[in-house]
Amino acid sequence: MKIDRRGFIGCMAAASAGCAARRGTDGGSRCDTFVFLSDLHIEGAAPTYAYSKKRLEKTVDEILSMSPLPRGVVCFGDISCTYGLDADYIEAKRILSRLENAGVALHFTLGNHDRRSFFFDKWPRCAENSPVPGRCVSVVDLGSADLVLLDALKGADERALTDMGPVEGGLDDRQLAWFGDFVANAARPFFVGTHQFSDLYVKGLSPVERAAKSRHFSGWIYGHDHKWQPSFRACGWKDGVIKPILCLPSSGLWGDIGYVVFRTSAHGAEAELKMQDFYFTMPRPAAERPSFWDARIGDLKGARAHFPFDRHA
Ligand SMILES: [Fe+2]
Repeated sequence: MKIDRRGFIGCMAAASAGCAARRGTDGGSRCDTFVFLSDLHIEGAAPTYAYSKKRLEKTVDEILSMSPLPRGVVCFGDISCTYGLDADYIEAKRILSRLENAGVALHFTLGNHDRRSFFFDKWPRCAENSPVPGRCVSVVDLGSADLVLLDALKGADERALTDMGPVEGGLDDRQLAWFGDFVANAARPFFVGTHQFSDLYVKGLSPVERAAKSRHFSGWIYGHDHKWQPSFRACGWKDGVIKPILCLPSSGLWGDIGYVVFRTSAHGAEAELKMQDFYFTMPRPAAERPSFWDARIGDLKGARAHFPFDRHA
């Protein structure tokens, strides 16, 4: 089926209405709505970045006030502020547990500032359920599509506690082999999520080109750059294959500050930006804010990106 923009948006409105209707039949709180957070950068020790922590607490308040509640919250990496310290994950767990306690599932992938051992210690099921042992990999059921979360963290667990690790990301051979099998066997639309995208290096075919081997590949979602940026990527010049990609804002540390509400329907998905702030590199009082900061907030107010499922792709 082919649908135009108006039809697609109409479908999304119908999906929202369907969610509302379902509230009456499922006890009140489920719908194919998810919240995407990235670059949480939570610091457990001295509050150099207290803003990030306070902002995440407010975001959790906002998520818990959504009606119906989202089915899940996906964190796209850099949960830790800088070094992947145990105290960072203790603090992040304290804040994010409010979501789990309300029945909102949490899903993760890891970023360059994270450290697997301390993270897995706080969320052991992420290690237990990963199809690639030792990596934080999962497939999230988004309703009408899947979200494949890959683990691009290159930094070794054994690195010094004052070593923030390499900025760029990578995917090891075992993950790439598993991902290749997933793509080859995909039977419905799927998205892929990683922390890095432009800084994500692997040998041979790029990860997005590997995903595009399946006609069901519907888009790549990532963070790391701390900006809302919908774009596209050519995945095959010969066949004219092009796929949407989306960079997420940070939930609290410099750049575009906010989160994304991601809704799926039978026809596609819609990402809606919830823009909360902009600053670089540290917050400033209102009288000292450069004009660009508020201009940026105004420019992005109500921004959306669409990911239609095109069966003819
Ligand atoms: Fe990052």
